[in-house]
Amino acid sequence: MVCLGNICRSPLAEGILQSKLNSKDFFVDSAGTAAYHIGESPDHRSIKIAKKYGIDLTNQRARQFRSEDFLKFDLIYAMDKKNYQNICSLAKDDAEIKKVRMILKEMNSPSNNSVPDPYYGDDDGFETVYQMLNEVCELIAKRLVQASI
Ligand code: 4NP
Repeated sequence: MVCLGNICRSPLAEGILQSKLNSKDFFVDSAGTAAYHIGESPDHRSIKIAKKYGIDLTNQRARQFRSEDFLKFDLIYAMDKKNYQNICSLAKDDAEIKKVRMILKEMNSPSNNSVPDPYYGDDDGFETVYQMLNEVCELIAKRLVQASI
């Protein structure tokens, strides 16, 4: 799960998807394309909204996406188009690019396929992001379990 800062959207996406999967079978992680927040805990508003739905993000620490992640992960979900482009710019070949997906394209999204950046907004933005990610992660988890992704 990759966003810009790895403190708002992708920590939520990591927590939500992992909560829907057996951790013995699936490893979910997150990162940011930018280095601004390396080592920091998720934004307190992401922690709060996740806690409301029974998910604990407090052990997560922000890190930056790196080219080695293409070797470690089978699927890489970008939260928005800019993240998608930045991730793809680190890919060394087509096989690596094929691992990268815009997360909302996994469902019939009414939006422009970007998870809105809630960083400069209010708590409502975090609720919206939570609901979007919860809906798409439900689909992703089902497909992963059926090995049809
Ligand atoms: P995220 O949100 O990409 O969902 O973690 C942001 C966090 C920090 C900044 C921008 C977006 N920032 O500019 O510091």
